Amino acid sequence: MSSLAGKRILLGVSGGIAAYKSPDLVRRLRERGAEVRVVMTASARHFVTATTFQAVSGHPVRDDLWDEAAEAAMGHIELARWADQVLVAPATADCLARLAGGHADDLLTTLCLATEAPLAVAPAMNRVMWAHPATRDNVARLASRGVTVLGPGTGDQACGETGDGRMLEPLELAEALAGLGETGAVSGLRIIVTAGPTREPIDPVRYLTNRSSGKMGYAVAAAAARRGADVLLVSGPVTLPNPPGVRRLCVETAAEMDEIVQAEVDGAHIFIAAAAVSDYRPATVADAKIKKTADHLDLSLEKAPDVLARVAARPDRPFTVGFAAETNDVEKHALIKLEKKKLDMIAANQVGRDLGFDRDDNQLTVYWPDGSRALDPADKCDLAERLMDVIAERYEAAQGENG
Ligand code: CTP
Repeated sequence: MSSLAGKRILLGVSGGIAAYKSPDLVRRLRERGAEVRVVMTASARHFVTATTFQAVSGHPVRDDLWDEAAEAAMGHIELARWADQVLVAPATADCLARLAGGHADDLLTTLCLATEAPLAVAPAMNRVMWAHPATRDNVARLASRGVTVLGPGTGDQACGETGDGRMLEPLELAEALAGLGETGAVSGLRIIVTAGPTREPIDPVRYLTNRSSGKMGYAVAAAAARRGADVLLVSGPVTLPNPPGVRRLCVETAAEMDEIVQAEVDGAHIFIAAAAVSDYRPATVADAKIKKTADHLDLSLEKAPDVLARVAARPDRPFTVGFAAETNDVEKHALIKLEKKKLDMIAANQVGRDLGFDRDDNQLTVYWPDGSRALDPADKCDLAERLMDVIAERYEAAQGENG
């Protein structure tokens, strides 16, 4: 059981049927050592009473922004400052919309705006409401601001339907919250990750690109953020949601990716180049759509900036990690790249023959100047965790050698 010892958790309960599970959640948080205070919305009171929460949390429950006695004691600003972590569970579709819109018309939304503590939400609603573009949009907006979205789970729903939208079980939420606070060797470090493909325009409607899905880079960025790093993800065009707690800047071309990385890399501790950046781009970009008049068309290509090599060549460079996707002689090519680009580490994998690109699983071998480690084949999320373990370990070793 992971610990939440000493953590001050403000639990916001909004009005959905899953609110009947929230008193149990309070108990699960408290048995991990957290101190919990509960704030309810007016509609939450239709599902569960304040007395229940008062009994399980051991503290008075607040539900009114205009409660004079409460404001005189622990006012809403004090409560916002008191919290180390805010968790809204259940977070209804309406609650998510109001949080995404920055509303402050009741105590819970006001607290979420007034606090500097990280915010996590546990959505709970009917599957159609969860799938609605308005909800998708609100969740994406919250995630892009660093809000952690826990769940929802899949299964039978109170409305009799089956699908996505169930609030995670109290035990799962308590474990997830404990995991969020986990720190490690990269906690507090600034990490820049590139991910996804780039698109190099040929004319206004066509471009050169590759099969990268961005999944590996996104999983690495998420793993670094979970360890408490301050993560910037510079992403080529992909359809993936922004990982929780990660700042994301979206680009199209290698030149745009390079411009952002070089502008942000000053002071970064670790740079991880997981993007499949175009090595070449059209030497000229046609202003108008190229018409099908010629029988033969030559496309002249020039080298695109090598983002990774340019970071590695900086005098004040961060700990620099590259990727090598190879169809053959993986180790040989990876070691050549490690040496040629003067990297601290390279993560190599075999691509082609149904491996690597655009898949959920992968296999990596990591090389550094005097060692290597093969990571077992796994789901890209697991693999990203293992890779972050090695990066943290090698980063610490490099710090030791440098000072
Ligand atoms: N990379 C980069 N900018 C580029 C090209 C590659 O940052 N313009 C980074 C990738 O993110 C990856 C590593 O460099 O971390 C890959 O190295 P590279 O030598 O470009 O690999 P390939 O493109 O596979 O090279 P080659 O085609 O020569 O095998």
